[in-house]
Parts: sequence; C-alpha cells; structure tokens
Amino acid sequence: MTDLTVHLTQTDIVRGLRSDVLTGLAATPKTLPPKWFYDARGSELFEEITRLEEYYPTRAEREVLADRAGEIAELTGARTLVELGSGSSEKTRLLLDALRDAGTLREIVALDVSDAALDQSVAVLRDAYAQAAVHGVVGDFTQHLALLPGNAPRMVVFLGGTIGNLVPAERAKFLSALRDNLRAGEWLLLGTDLVKDRDTLVRAYDDARGVTAEFNRNVLHVLNRELGADFDVAAFEHVAVWDEREEWIEMRLRATRAMRVRIPAVNLDVDFADGEEMRTEVSAKFRPERVAAELADAGFALSDWWTDKLGRFGVSLARAD
Ligand code: SAH
Ligand code: TRP
Repeated sequence: MTDLTVHLTQTDIVRGLRSDVLTGLAATPKTLPPKWFYDARGSELFEEITRLEEYYPTRAEREVLADRAGEIAELTGARTLVELGSGSSEKTRLLLDALRDAGTLREIVALDVSDAALDQSVAVLRDAYAQAAVHGVVGDFTQHLALLPGNAPRMVVFLGGTIGNLVPAERAKFLSALRDNLRAGEWLLLGTDLVKDRDTLVRAYDDARGVTAEFNRNVLHVLNRELGADFDVAAFEHVAVWDEREEWIEMRLRATRAMRVRIPAVNLDVDFADGEEMRTEVSAKFRPERVAAELADAGFALSDWWTDKLGRFGVSLARAD
C-alpha cells in the first residue's frame, strides 16, 4: 500500500453511509448521494466508462488540457497542484508535465474518497514526478478542504465534470468553501460538461454495453457489503433521464418488482413498489454564463474559458479574488 493521509477512516465511511441511507431511503422519492459509488470496484468501472465510445466528456476534456496545458502552466506558475476527486489522475498528467517543464512544480496533492483509486494513482505519480512531493489524501471535498497540504501558489484542479454531481446549493457551498481556503491569487481549474442535445447526453449515461448500468447498480453492492443489506441487485435496472428544466442528467435505479429490503446496520426495512425509481446521481450540464456566474458568486475571477473543438466540454481557469 502507498502511504496516504486519511481523513476518512472506514469507521467514518460507514457512519456517513448509515446517515445518508437513513435520510435518503426514508425520503420520497428515495435518493442516495453519489459518492458511495466509488469503492474499488466502482472506481474501476468509472475508468471503464471513460473509455466508452458514448462517454465523450473524458476525451473532450483531455483535448482541452492537451491544447492548453502550456498556457495554464505559464499563467498560473503553480508550485502545487491540488486535485479534488482525482480518480486515476490520468488527464492531470498533461498539466503536471507542463508545470514540470515550466520548472515550477514542487508538490502534488491528490484527494479522493476512494483509497483504492488513490493507492494506484499516487504510486504512478511518485514514479513519474520524482522531483515533486506527492501527497495522497483520503477525504471528502465537501468536508476536508481546510486540511489540504501544499505551499502557495496552488492550482486546484477539479476535472471530469464532477462539480455537476453536486446540486446547485451544494455547488455554491462547495465553491465558497474552496475560495475561503485559498489565498487571493491562487487558482482553480474547473471542468464542466456543457448543455447539448438529449440523445448525445443520454447515450453517454446509458451505454450499449451496460457498463454505466453496472456502475450505477454497484452502489447497492456497497450497501449490501457495508451495511449488511439484502438488495437483490439484479432486480434493479439502470435509468438515465435528461431533465430539461434543471439541465441535468438524472441517474436512477428502478425496482423491477415490489420488494422489501432489510438494512440491518440502520435497523431499517425499506419497501419498493414495482417500478419505483430511486435517484442515485445528477450530472448537471452547464452553459458558459452559468459557470461564470457561479464562480463570481463564490469570489473567483474568471481568467480563461476554453472548450474542445466540438464545443462539448468547458474548462475554466479562475483566480481567487
Ligand atoms: N477526476 C477524474 C475522476 C472523476 S469521477 C476524472 O476526471 O476522470 C469522480 C471522482 O471523484 C471519483 O474518483 C470519486 O471517487 C471522487 N469523489 C466523488 N465524490 C467525492 C467526494 N465527496 N469527495 C472526494 N472525492 C469524491
Ligand atoms: N462525474 C461523472 C459525470 O457526471 C460521473 C459519472 C459518469 C457517472 N457516468 C456516470 C455517475 C454514471 C453515475 C452514473 O459524468
């Protein structure tokens, strides 16, 4: 195992999961927060999603980073790159290479809830950037921003459109907390997927091979393992819907028969009606004006905005004001 700084122990994780399950499964409609997808298997399945023909965001974002990494390194002069929800950090290497070549890179901080993902990515980063100190932090970007290591000037990178997995009120809270933990003049590089036609969006979240379906259902395996629940995982089907009013893709799990599920760790019996849908994630899609407004509201000054050639995915560089 790689050495990691742990702000979320297994005990914290199970405690958080219990509380989210109690709240979310008692609600109408039922919901579960998305961070519980990402156990070792979930992180692996997400990596498989990024390689699917239908899932364009990873490729589109990589195109922007490949085109602009040199410019970003020059503009920011970052000494520390801090990545939130880092996963494999694969695209991030384009930025790290540029910062290394510009001669400013000294520290790398990767933060993720998934210790399995970090374990691998930190080992790869230590090997590739021997001149930098690499810190792997197991934590939650909605809770542990104040505990991040690294000397200024820092560039915080938040890629993959993960910010869209927060609902607007959570996003506002997250961005303000992030701003509060930066000094004026430090940087945020933010990846946001953009509003586009329904077909392209739905296909990206409902692929033909069913990898996304398996990823979505994985959250039920997490509940079975961590809370002793008895979900019949095969009895739930994956649903992806484009909500035009909210401008987000909603991921749901639909019960294909009526059933009662026992969740011993929270002493809860949950009834599902035949066809009942539980919301497991939203993935908001943005218009450029909205990204600019949300950044400004949180105290960031937009410096640059780039998209891939097909205009599918946006990357903003913003400075803490
Ligand atoms: N940045 C990568 C991975 C995106 S998937 C990319 O662009 O491809 C989202 C990542 O965020 C996963 O690695 C997941 O484990 C992590 N994650 C989700 N919710 C989180 C939270 N609340 N705190 C920290 N990490 C989180
Ligand atoms: N941040 C990714 C996104 O919103 C996560 C993701 C991709 C995802 N595909 C998914 C989450 C399918 C749940 C289900 O695009």
